[in-house]
Amino acid sequence: MKGMIFTEFMEMVEASWSMDMVDRIIADSKVASGGSYTSVGTYPHEEIIALILALSQATGIAPPELARTFGKHLFGRFALAYPRFFHGMDGGCFQFLYGIEHVILAEVSKLYPDAELPTFEVKIEKSCLNLTYYSPHPFADLAQGLIEGCVAHFAEDIEVGSEAIRGQPGARTRFILTRRG
Ligand code: HEM
Repeated sequence: MKGMIFTEFMEMVEASWSMDMVDRIIADSKVASGGSYTSVGTYPHEEIIALILALSQATGIAPPELARTFGKHLFGRFALAYPRFFHGMDGGCFQFLYGIEHVILAEVSKLYPDAELPTFEVKIEKSCLNLTYYSPHPFADLAQGLIEGCVAHFAEDIEVGSEAIRGQPGARTRFILTRRG
């Protein structure tokens, strides 16, 4: 997993808790890298899971909630770091998510050729957008947080629901976004 995901996670922990908390979760999770992440490095995705579990132990907040909170934070950071992905998005959140596979992730894989990106299938029907998340990794809660961050970024009144998928190889979760009003 790309180092920027780890550096952003550590920044969120430091800003929301403290530098001591950063040191504590590195020690408790016993990550092989020793926690000295750089944004250009690549690290096993199991390390972010171990760090989230250690943060959960230390704070009493459930891991799925921490993963979602991190996803929201991450989307805000992506929006600041890559403003060009947001140009011409007059159609808001649905337009952005509709292009996630062919526009955004295609660009991201050019920027980070060794990134192990998830894939998405998106369908829009009237006021509803269905987004199916496919990945070999268990990051559906992170994906949900990113989607919630996207909704918040465009400041739209959209409800985000999710359902786990069984029996469809590689598919993990379907997110259902419904425009209110
Ligand atoms: C709402 C929109 C988005 C969703 C739902 C999403 C979802 C995810 C998820 C779930 C992962 C974890 C990896 C996995 O599941 O296997 C991931 C990784 C990643 N995403 Fe996104 N993403 C979104 C937008 C973006 C944007 C806008 C960017 C870039 C500017 C981006 C760049 C990345 C990168 C660099 C990784 C790390 C890949 C790796 O570690 O190898 N994503 N994304």
